[in-house]
Amino acid sequence: MKYLKIITVFVCLCTLQLSAQEKFTKEQRLEWFQDAKLGIFIHWGYYGVKGIGESWSMYHKRISYDDYMAQGKEFTAKNYDPEAWAKLFKKAGARYAVLTTKHHDGVALWDTKFSKLNVVQKTPAKRDLVAPFVDALRKENLKVGLYYSIIDWSHPDYDVVFPRPDTRKNYPQKNQNQLSPWQRFLKFNDGQLKELSTTFNPDLYWFDGDWEKSSEQWQAQSLKDSLLSWNPKVIVNSRLKSYGDYSTPEQGVPVVRPEGAWEFCMTMNDNWGYFPSDTNYKPVSQIIRTFVEVISSGGNLLLNIGPKPDGTIAPEQVERLEALGEWISKHESAVFNSKAGLPYGHFFGPTLLSKDETKIYLALFDNPKNYILLKGIQNKVKSIKVVGTNQELSFERNGGAEWNNIPGILRIEIPQEKNLDANTTLIEVTLEDALVLYRGHGNAVELNK
Ligand code: GLC
Repeated sequence: MKYLKIITVFVCLCTLQLSAQEKFTKEQRLEWFQDAKLGIFIHWGYYGVKGIGESWSMYHKRISYDDYMAQGKEFTAKNYDPEAWAKLFKKAGARYAVLTTKHHDGVALWDTKFSKLNVVQKTPAKRDLVAPFVDALRKENLKVGLYYSIIDWSHPDYDVVFPRPDTRKNYPQKNQNQLSPWQRFLKFNDGQLKELSTTFNPDLYWFDGDWEKSSEQWQAQSLKDSLLSWNPKVIVNSRLKSYGDYSTPEQGVPVVRPEGAWEFCMTMNDNWGYFPSDTNYKPVSQIIRTFVEVISSGGNLLLNIGPKPDGTIAPEQVERLEALGEWISKHESAVFNSKAGLPYGHFFGPTLLSKDETKIYLALFDNPKNYILLKGIQNKVKSIKVVGTNQELSFERNGGAEWNNIPGILRIEIPQEKNLDANTTLIEVTLEDALVLYRGHGNAVELNK
């Protein structure tokens, strides 16, 4: 009997340990994401047919529900080439991409069995568009992100603020009459998410629309638990109330460093979807600067494109992805080996720090005059060079009172003009050992030489 007890306890302990091993901490799940730096956001949907706002054009009553949905008849995906997309993203320097599998309009880009409102049944594309996307990304070794709107403005059990016809025929609901409308809706979301999770095994979920309901209404905790049970390594953005793994500032670069992991999403012009009348594209130089600013504060940039309904990508967008890619590949050693840079006050511009903190990268947005200045570095400096061209720069320490641990200023020679990058130049400062910063506010030199 005694032995039986011991064996039972032993078996229980082993099982406990196994299930503990199967779970990943948030840090473990976020590991690849923290190093990714660039992701591509893809808003692809009916809205590109007329070139109008994604879903919101219905919400703001700029188009009727029926006319919005009629766009589906011209959503052909005729020239959709996900492998070419994936190659382009790779060339842009991205490590992951996030596709709108379903926006607020409720139209699913995959072959869902939970609604007839999907591109297989309603459009001339007549096929699942998410499956080949996922395969193509994986082939290029890119992580797979699925955007999923948890609000669905087509679902008959989801209340909307604009006139909408009866949509029940698109949402078969067998034997669900005993449930309340909201319970039916949650069951529907749960079904689609289980379907996406088990079919595509995504690395990341990009939720959207959580602001329309409370955490309790979304049953956010239990949804997060389900997501992790279907896919223990998945990470989730912050739009699942407080249950996300990283935050998602949008359109305006944060001025103060956000805490924890984060990702800044931004359009190239002023719209998320294909919107040919919007030609207000950001210049390449601005996109590159934004990228540098974001990674220098420890975030990732999620740069958006809006493919056309036939699946091709507008030349203005391709051009920007390629130009960013060129910059990233020239500066790869700095971009991918780094983390957030120095606190404010040491250098007037963004900076990066190598992971082992023996290198500081200084970003020059403008061409420097006379010399480059870096303050408050206690370490001895080994060498300084221009990233990408390797020009060695001379430097000298000026001022300070070393014997009192006041480091003074590092005065660095400016690069030759041919070594300045047309968009952003990075200077690599190699230290003798791991960074030691002077963070004081200055004091008298009490013991002078
Ligand atoms: C917003 C919008 C949505 C867009 C998203 C991307 O929250 O609701 O249309 O897809 O941002 O970040």
